[in-house]
Amino acid sequence: LARGATAPDLAGRHVVISAGGTREPLDPVRYLGNRSSGKQGYALARTAVARGARVTLVEANTGLPDPAGADVVRVGTAVQLREAVLKAAADADVVVMAAAVADFRPAAYATGKIKKKDGQEPAAVELVRNPDVLAEIAAERGKPGQLVVGFAAETDDVLANGREKLRRKGCDLLVVNEVGERKTFGSEENEAVVLDIDGGETPVPYGPKEALADTVWDLVTSRLG
Ligand code: CTP
Ligand code: CA
Repeated sequence: LARGATAPDLAGRHVVISAGGTREPLDPVRYLGNRSSGKQGYALARTAVARGARVTLVEANTGLPDPAGADVVRVGTAVQLREAVLKAAADADVVVMAAAVADFRPAAYATGKIKKKDGQEPAAVELVRNPDVLAEIAAERGKPGQLVVGFAAETDDVLANGREKLRRKGCDLLVVNEVGERKTFGSEENEAVVLDIDGGETPVPYGPKEALADTVWDLVTSRLG
């Protein structure tokens, strides 16, 4: 499908997209976060609406305006994101996990602001694992035939790590980005390879995040049949 074309090939489909980055609170004023802007997830939401899908966008801390025509669910933490995605996925044809989900959260939340004291070294922050939402969705498949798409940002051995991650997560497609200086975080553009579970590889040249989004939907629609 040519970019800019709006063939309604996702008409009648419910797609769920997570976008942004979770924030894991330490105390009322601090959190552990990441650099995800949410722009790729929003591009996926806009292009899916343009292709006729019913879109649920589960958004974590992006600050971006709601895309026209999508139902937006706002979450903060990984645990909240899991709950919102699982709920929306119950009747979804496709789930795309574009959000950067924190792998760990502070083991304890301090209800009052953590204060420093003169002459005292800071205490270590104890962390615990967050649930792996993508692996859980891929294992459960809320609806028969549901397709599950993951994202991965890698710095080294990008394709080998991506292939291993695709298998480990159990999803159908994995969009693998190489993280670099100008690439991915906060940028309007992206470059990626989409790996599929049957061994296929679709390179997507450096370009607008909408173009990568449309390639994802092309691969999804051909697999949905
Ligand atoms: N993901 C998720 N839940 C988590 C962590 C990641 O659903 N707790 C999803 C992301 O949304 C993304 C995919 O898993 O679609 C890959 O994320 P990534 O951080 O690359 O994978 P990890 O398994 O966390 O591996 P790593 O140790 O490299 O961070
Ligand atoms: Ca991770």
